[in-house]
Amino acid sequence: MRVVKAKHAGACYGVQRALDMALEAAGRTEGASTLGPLIHNPQVVGELAERGIRAVESVDAVDHGSVIIRSHGVTPGVRRSVEERGLPIIDATCPHVARAQKAAAELARQCGRVVVVGEAGHPEVEGLVACAREAGGQVAVVTEPADLPDGLPAPVGIVVQTTQTRESLDAVVDALVARGIEPQVKNTICFATRQRQEAAAALADEVDAIVVIGGRNSSNTTRLAEICAAACSRTHHVEAPDELDPAWFEGCESVGVTAGASTPEAQIAAVVDRLEAW
Ligand code: F3S
Repeated sequence: MRVVKAKHAGACYGVQRALDMALEAAGRTEGASTLGPLIHNPQVVGELAERGIRAVESVDAVDHGSVIIRSHGVTPGVRRSVEERGLPIIDATCPHVARAQKAAAELARQCGRVVVVGEAGHPEVEGLVACAREAGGQVAVVTEPADLPDGLPAPVGIVVQTTQTRESLDAVVDALVARGIEPQVKNTICFATRQRQEAAAALADEVDAIVVIGGRNSSNTTRLAEICAAACSRTHHVEAPDELDPAWFEGCESVGVTAGASTPEAQIAAVVDRLEAW
């Protein structure tokens, strides 16, 4: 059985950087906490907990050690509350997210009104909204043109959650242009998600079965599994090699392997090793 890994798969730059920073903190005596689980990957969160890096719901739950800011970033208010408590910050905000936060604030200052194209309530989007508001902007979060508020006056700035698609951004821009508003757009999309989706779709087309690795609570991994299932009926989403069942691959000549942006390389290698052993 030939095992083929997708051209782009697994931990993106920002997630790998956050993991490396957390593991480095695990080696220090004072300990550290993450504000929420570092990534949507139960195995990794469990491993970090064993090394003394616990996930907490709010800053109030931390009384010692450093506070690790996740790759999605935090609101300026949360950052201040960590600083006010005198806790050291390990800032693992992905540089792409930091750039989007800066863009949100700049647009708020320049335009006064900011449209954030993204998923309301997502931690990254909450950070973008808060940055724009702190800079004096009025903010609307939209996923599609229908979400745009009525009577939005120009000028309008647009910033995008890093994991959104170009199509979602274009649809919102086009809707504003149709209303006679030429928005000022800061395209802050990161292509890691898109690359993984395109590579998974291409691979699912050419193999007999495909394994998608990543947390079941990871939305980007679940989306990859959906994309693969559309092209390959023998698609299996697993979190660890022990879940693999040899019966899934009976009669297969080739098996594809892909993984979400929150799946570290070691988990991919463990699955590939198991498949190759069969
Ligand atoms: Fe950063 Fe893009 Fe990953 S924004 S966290 S590199 S998906």
